[in-house]
Amino acid sequence: MVALIETGHQPAARFLQADKMEILMKIFGLFLVALTFAATSGAADIDNGSELHSESCMQCHDSAAYTREDRKVQDLARLGTQVRFCKDNLGVTWFDDEVDDVIGFLNQQYYHF
Ligand code: HEC
Repeated sequence: MVALIETGHQPAARFLQADKMEILMKIFGLFLVALTFAATSGAADIDNGSELHSESCMQCHDSAAYTREDRKVQDLARLGTQVRFCKDNLGVTWFDDEVDDVIGFLNQQYYHF
């Protein structure tokens, strides 16, 4: 009787452990996804913003537009609006995070909001 219970018990225990491993791996996987998401959706990539900006944004005005006395942009929200406005006029198709990179670059380099 005892022997029967014990032999029945072992595979069950192993099954349970495999199950737990699978759950742990799933949690770990979710953790990795969350990490990647945090890394890509977090702070703006200033270097990328700088690159995009010098590729596309110096055709109508140079950076003097951002530092002149009577500049139009007075806060971060306005900076976002203006960048999107200019981007749409220019006709480049940037993803939202690329727009954010350029906004981040302009803010760090010129506006300091
Ligand atoms: C088609 C021409 C054109 C292109 C290309 C262009 N801009 Fe502009 N931009 C303008 C004009 C016009 C103004 C307004 C200047 C004024 O009012 O004196 C302006 C103003 C700005 C301002 C506000 C400056 C201030 O007064 O504080 C920002 C910021 C700006 N542009 C960012 C960008 C970015 C980023 C890009 C690249 C996506 C870009 N621009 C490309 C035409 C352009």
